[in-house]
Amino acid sequence: MIRGKYQIMSAVLIGLAMSAGPLSAQGVRPNVNTPAGAQMLASYARAIEVMRRLPANDPHSWSFQANLHGFVAGTPNPSPMWGQCQHGNWWFLSWHRTYLHCFEKIIRVHSGDANFALPYWDWSDATSRSLPTAFRATGSPLYDGTRRASVNNGSDALDESVIVSDVNYALSRTAFFSVSLNDAADTFGGVRVTEPSHFHAGSGALELSPHNYVHGWVGGNMGDPDRAARDPLFFLHHANVDRLWDLWLASGDRANPTSEPIWMNQGFTLFDENKRPVTLAARDMLNTRTQLNYVYADRLLQAVRAAAAKRPPQVKFASGQRPKPRVQLVLEPQKPWGDLKKVPMQIALKIDAAEAGPLYQLARKDKVAKGELVLVVEGISFGAGVADSPLELFLNLPANANQPAIKQRYLADRTAFFGHAHNGTARFRLGEAFERVRTQEGFRPEALTFTLARNWYGATPPATPLPVTFKRVTIQVEQ
Ligand code: C2O
Repeated sequence: MIRGKYQIMSAVLIGLAMSAGPLSAQGVRPNVNTPAGAQMLASYARAIEVMRRLPANDPHSWSFQANLHGFVAGTPNPSPMWGQCQHGNWWFLSWHRTYLHCFEKIIRVHSGDANFALPYWDWSDATSRSLPTAFRATGSPLYDGTRRASVNNGSDALDESVIVSDVNYALSRTAFFSVSLNDAADTFGGVRVTEPSHFHAGSGALELSPHNYVHGWVGGNMGDPDRAARDPLFFLHHANVDRLWDLWLASGDRANPTSEPIWMNQGFTLFDENKRPVTLAARDMLNTRTQLNYVYADRLLQAVRAAAAKRPPQVKFASGQRPKPRVQLVLEPQKPWGDLKKVPMQIALKIDAAEAGPLYQLARKDKVAKGELVLVVEGISFGAGVADSPLELFLNLPANANQPAIKQRYLADRTAFFGHAHNGTARFRLGEAFERVRTQEGFRPEALTFTLARNWYGATPPATPLPVTFKRVTIQVEQ
């Protein structure tokens, strides 16, 4: 079942959006699947062609721009500016906002279109879950042949049961950040750190999934953080992530950590449209309209903002810091997890009689208080090569269930890592799967079986072993 909270909202609030007034064309980032989006793609494609012809050491060249995000080790003449994207910490959103802002201005120069605004790809919208059409044409500058074939030919679509639930889950987080690594997945924006970290281990909910999940689903360059920004699709993917930051903030009772000087003031330096270094910090981008001169042409966002303005404020985590989860049950694994190559891999989580009662209560409380019941695997590490496609968790999967259609029935959730193969956090929703077990199989906590598998997207698993290790597994209700 889909928790389509924001879809419902969009139907109810569309009238409000209409009254928000028209926006001027300049600085309005459009949905890619609109006429305005198509117009922007024409300019974008022109600029890409020009930038691909520039020498590699030119800050405006396509490869230099991609390398600012991440670069493959061993690339000749690395610039100290390269490889600075912020992942797994509370600057994930603001770093990528800076990157897109500078990139957009550079595209204006090389396309000759002074009104260029980056389109966004709204992958959770029911009409947009396949690769946008313009990116599928093999001769186009927007094409990237490294993507998975079924993505590139438009035959594959993002799984609704993952993408919609994950977007709604991320938007429902009230805290921007956590202090502890272990709690990061329960926040919108990630863990607090005191200095920049290219790859930290405290991703927030939005980054974990949908963000990571979409990267892995597209595959190829997009599936690897060192190469992801080579794919022109990257910037539309991140425009949508950036739009969701605005949507989250507009939803009311949510705040950026503006009382945290470290988050506010840490600057990141990139190149502007004149190839001059420009340094921006989070405090310079709290309001995109007044500070960076762009907004999203998104009625839902405007509607949510208008509705929130009319509501009296509720409990507010003014510091943006995450509260403790309500209830927590720590499960000790019976034995180490095995080799992920052997798919599916049964994981034995020992739930003894003493824990069965509390677990049952957790499930009930979840239903009553509308929290999210999740299984959190902390400190998960696995061999390289697993990172770009999702791990799937099944509940009570029969041993002989090999057909995708049968497996789908037992799927609890899936999560993806986008290159973070070490000491990460995997978070799987359990609520719907528990509901299935309760209503159809009888809920006996001590008899639950959890199965973890990698979704290989039909590819052959690599020959090398892919051992999985982790530190702790908990089941908890997140609010
Ligand atoms: Cu820095 Cu989606 O990646």
